[in-house]
Amino acid sequence: MQQQDKRLSQAFPPNSQSNSSYIAEIHNVLATIKIDDIGFKDIKFRNVQTKRDIAQLKQLQLEWFPIDYSEQFYTAVLNGVNSSLIAEIEIKFHTGRKERFIIGAMIFQQRHSKSKYLQTQTWKQWFCSLFQTKNALYIMTIGVINEFRGRGIADYMLDQLKKRVLESNKTLNYIYLDMIVYNEIASRFYQKNGFICVRVKKNHYEIENQLFDAHVYVWLPN
Ligand SMILES: CC(C)(COP(=O)(O)OP(=O)(O)OC[C@H]1O[C@@H](n2cnc3c(N)ncnc32)[C@H](O)[C@@H]1OP(=O)(O)O)[C@@H](O)C(=O)NCCC(=O)NCCS
Repeated sequence: MQQQDKRLSQAFPPNSQSNSSYIAEIHNVLATIKIDDIGFKDIKFRNVQTKRDIAQLKQLQLEWFPIDYSEQFYTAVLNGVNSSLIAEIEIKFHTGRKERFIIGAMIFQQRHSKSKYLQTQTWKQWFCSLFQTKNALYIMTIGVINEFRGRGIADYMLDQLKKRVLESNKTLNYIYLDMIVYNEIASRFYQKNGFICVRVKKNHYEIENQLFDAHVYVWLPN
């Protein structure tokens, strides 16, 4: 008999049994309110600024990804070495107290661009690239809590990165990321957003004692 898929996030392996319960406090809070009353206009987007943001992000990433992100990773997010964009909502409790909670997050870095990912470049562009340092944006993580998936939050976050590339005066060449091979929802998400798979990295991830390939997805501006 086939095992029931209990995953909260498709970033976990299909047969994973370790991703079936929520960790972040926001889920208990949402259970006490009407989620449908919260519209896209109620969602605020900003970067990570406080230790409380980091505490929430750590719990959410445990739900979203089967990878242990180090203290160094989170310190780099807090001090801006790793860039961030978070989606947050404000909850008003019966007592009148208001509190903000993260419901989506994207962590990314600026890295040197690699000419092998610039598939459409001409010989002249390739030759010039040898003498110029150009950069790319690398998406390290992106996630949205289950209750708010399918509402365009990840689309919006990605659009903000595309805007940066388009407004960079060609100093940013492209956006790229590594994605674990079985994550079908993420692959549909990136393909819908114009990303193409340019490379397979064999056995790139070791998750729950299994090796998995990574797909490298790239988005190039027109
Ligand atoms: C992948 C993820 C970030 C998408 O977030 P989201 O806010 O729900 O995505 P959006 O609502 O912006 O959807 C954008 C597009 O992605 C695709 N998509 C999103 N959810 C999908 C689903 N359940 N089934 C099929 N396609 C889906 C669709 O093409 C969708 O566009 P459409 O609504 O016009 O058809 C979210 O599912 C998630 O957090 N997953 C767990 C963590 C993860 O896997 N992160 C990616 C690691 S690389």
